[in-house]
Amino acid sequence: MPTTATESLSDAARKFVEGGPHKLLIGADWMEAADGRTFETVDPSTGEAICEVAQAGAEDVERAAQAARAALEGKWGKMPAAGRSLLINRLADLIEENSEELAQLEALDNGKPVTIAGAVDIPQAVAHLRYYAGWPTKIEGETIPVSWPNMFTYTIKEPVGVCGQIIPWNFPLLMASWKISPALAAGCTLILKPAEQTPLSAIRLGQLAQEAGFPEGVINILTGDGETGAALVDSTSIDKIAFTGSTEVGRRIGARCGELLKRVTLELGGKNPNIILPDADVEAAIKGSFQGIYFNTGQACNAGSRLFVQKDQFDTVVSGLAEAAKKAKVGPGLDTGTQFGPVVSKEQYERVSSYIESGLEQGAEAVAGGNGGGNGDGGGYFINPTLFTGVTDDMKIAREEIFGPVLVAMPYDDLDEVARRANDTDYGLAAGIWTRDVANAHNLARKLKAGSVYINGWGMVDAAAPFGGYKASGIGREMGHANLDAYLEVKTVWTSLK
Ligand code: NAI
Ligand code: MG
Repeated sequence: MPTTATESLSDAARKFVEGGPHKLLIGADWMEAADGRTFETVDPSTGEAICEVAQAGAEDVERAAQAARAALEGKWGKMPAAGRSLLINRLADLIEENSEELAQLEALDNGKPVTIAGAVDIPQAVAHLRYYAGWPTKIEGETIPVSWPNMFTYTIKEPVGVCGQIIPWNFPLLMASWKISPALAAGCTLILKPAEQTPLSAIRLGQLAQEAGFPEGVINILTGDGETGAALVDSTSIDKIAFTGSTEVGRRIGARCGELLKRVTLELGGKNPNIILPDADVEAAIKGSFQGIYFNTGQACNAGSRLFVQKDQFDTVVSGLAEAAKKAKVGPGLDTGTQFGPVVSKEQYERVSSYIESGLEQGAEAVAGGNGGGNGDGGGYFINPTLFTGVTDDMKIAREEIFGPVLVAMPYDDLDEVARRANDTDYGLAAGIWTRDVANAHNLARKLKAGSVYINGWGMVDAAAPFGGYKASGIGREMGHANLDAYLEVKTVWTSLK
């Protein structure tokens, strides 16, 4: 059912949307779910349904796993490494060629500004594929100098096998690219499950993978919800699970994979401290901290959601941020003037709103936003950038991941104190430091328990640079060769030369 928003879509994007109900990609074919179930994906800028999508169940998971196994044992498994590189590069080219359509689908399905999707999500997805496209021909084993006489010992690296990849809704195509790129480079086959809030770009990705010429069964796309994800985790036909999402679900997946001794990597939540030191370039720190929390409407696992400012500069920084927050242009994703879109769903609208209410109830003061800003019923799920002061470390808004445009700002006295408070969290994904002093910067960087530390910037990413969490923020690393290794088994071969 097309909505009013689809009127501003390009012909290509409209054709895709109207081509629904969308099906599951299993092996070479697009098919309905075995039990015929479907669900609606919703435009968060209007709250209206976009189109119907198939809801995969356990039977579909098994069918996809069989297709993926056959590809692994067949054409894909036998393909020389250079062939994998070529196909991954071809897919990157096709994403680039279709970037306008893909950016529009992201804006429609997720609510993010179409300009941001076009400038960040899509090119980053392409860059990720291209980085990993270079790897297949460089996956090498080693010759091991063992202490046995007359022994020839070497290692080879083999793909882990069939991978179930479960991704969230905040950067739909980009998260898909983060997941599929290293798996394909390593020679694995995969079943990708996009989030139920944002299935469209993954379906389009499946079509482009077919166009690129991947053998059937290498890339399978199963749309569905948590039940579909759980079926992937439970399936004994799948060798590895890669998950990005909430810490709560990540814990459950980790436990189940532990029971089944299935390979698992988890990229989970954060409550990331962002620390402005007294000698920082304050203007740059305000600008960077503003983007650090509000980019993507705060829906980023590495959002800088706890701001620490030395007490003498607290008022200056807070008023700079509040002023910018009040001027922010919050609006529909497909509107090219929009700076920040809605949150992704009614559920997230209610979740984030309840955190804002909890902050107010516990005595914090909203110096910007704080009043919702839209409504969760008729219109879109808009929430104005919100900034809280008068926050104590034990308040819910200072401890829990909000995953929305809500920043808590807190003053501190000295470096030791701020390092201790910054680390006083279950999470450990990212942290930021603003300073002109090199020694302070790197001393503090060593003390912070986080997988990424940003100095004088926020949220820098590159396919070559590892990304992931300490503590409850996850297990393993995305990107770089660290993530390639997560898709490889090491085999040691001993040969007696006697
Ligand atoms: P979620 O963790 O439930 O969903 C993420 C993905 O996991 C989706 O594809 C979903 O279908 C799947 N899933 C859900 N339950 C599953 C299960 N039992 N087994 C396997 N897969 C399952 O996250 P949700 O509910 O969309 O968002 C809730 C909160 O999670 C957010 O407010 C935010 O705090 C956090 N979150 C963190 C993300 C991150 O990038 N670290 C991304 C999305 C959400
Ligand atoms: Mg949606």
